[in-house]
Amino acid sequence: MYAILLAPASNRVYAGESGELVAAELSVLLSAVDRDPGPIRPLELAGVGYLALDLPPDPVVDRELGRASAVLAAYEQVGDLLRPVPIERPDRFDDDLVTIPKYPGKTNEQFTRLLVNVTLAARRAPRLGPASILDPMSGRGTTLSTAWILGHHGYGVESDPKAVEAQAAFLRTYLRRKRIKHRLTTTPVRRDGRSLGRRLDAEVQPPQAGPGGADSTHGGPALELTVFTGDTRDTAFLYGKRTFDAVVTDAPYGIVHGSAHRESGASARAGKHGKASRDRSAADLLAEAIPIWAGLLRPGGALGLSWNTYGLRREDLADIARRAGLEPQDGDPYLRFGHRVDASIHRDVFVAVAPLR
Ligand SMILES: C[S@@+](CC[C@H](N)C(=O)[O-])C[C@H]1O[C@@H](n2cnc3c(N)ncnc32)[C@H](O)[C@@H]1O
Repeated sequence: MYAILLAPASNRVYAGESGELVAAELSVLLSAVDRDPGPIRPLELAGVGYLALDLPPDPVVDRELGRASAVLAAYEQVGDLLRPVPIERPDRFDDDLVTIPKYPGKTNEQFTRLLVNVTLAARRAPRLGPASILDPMSGRGTTLSTAWILGHHGYGVESDPKAVEAQAAFLRTYLRRKRIKHRLTTTPVRRDGRSLGRRLDAEVQPPQAGPGGADSTHGGPALELTVFTGDTRDTAFLYGKRTFDAVVTDAPYGIVHGSAHRESGASARAGKHGKASRDRSAADLLAEAIPIWAGLLRPGGALGLSWNTYGLRREDLADIARRAGLEPQDGDPYLRFGHRVDASIHRDVFVAVAPLR
């Protein structure tokens, strides 16, 4: 049996519920590698809280524990004693890449890692090597930096140009200060002589090798990041023919505002959304955006999003996803991620998979 010690929650919102959320996350991660974790339950030993996992010691389990969002340490229970288990972390950057930026509207970084993990684990027949993760409402980039930490490429679209500027400024300073080999540019995007906004492009040679890599100066394959300013409903237009292994996003929690760029530039091309795309509820935005995101997934790829259930019921979200050709994951561990954020936000996680064809 494993006794798992959780890392302290990175903010108050998350603190009370992180045990249950990590237990559900581990259920998804372990099932994806054919380990049946059974119920993962709270355990108290000598006044310290753990999660108890009834599986024999196993390197595959150790690897998934290292990937999980909030595991500090793991032990194997041997009689009355706990023997430390060396968990293997996939991390290719220090976690300060996601913990340093602090701003209103930021998605909690532990929760973001959970969302990325659960979405990637839901994929059918995932390919080896770095995955391409799209956050089509990427804010200042918590999902995209989490993608880098976990050894994946990050791609974004964000309607607030100031958020993208702030992300570029932070990454530039961070990578320089840490002397991490990189290339980073921000350039205007123009189509047919019209300005559509800007794009941030970066490529980085991660400083840490991740599992199996011995040489800390060669952290495995280089990782990419691109973010376009613009409306999420224009993602297919902005990325051309590109497809992604996963779409992961923390949806807006209240009224959302139509993007200026969509109103002027891309809306002419986008036709029916054009004029109607000013202020709208997050639910309306998701209803329009999910079919577009679904079309950007590779066969077997997965969509994972967190949203406020007070604005949109899970069943309605599942209907939208089904109509877009996705298969909602509505089994047990996937229904255990709901948690209170504040009086007006009850956040939940929704995962759906693109068929293999
Ligand atoms: C909950 S926040 C995501 C925060 C992000 N995960 C982070 O930690 O920085 C939702 C984001 O969606 C963006 N957004 C809202 N409507 C949008 C739209 N139509 N197109 C693109 N982005 C949009 C907002 O500007 C906001 O940055």
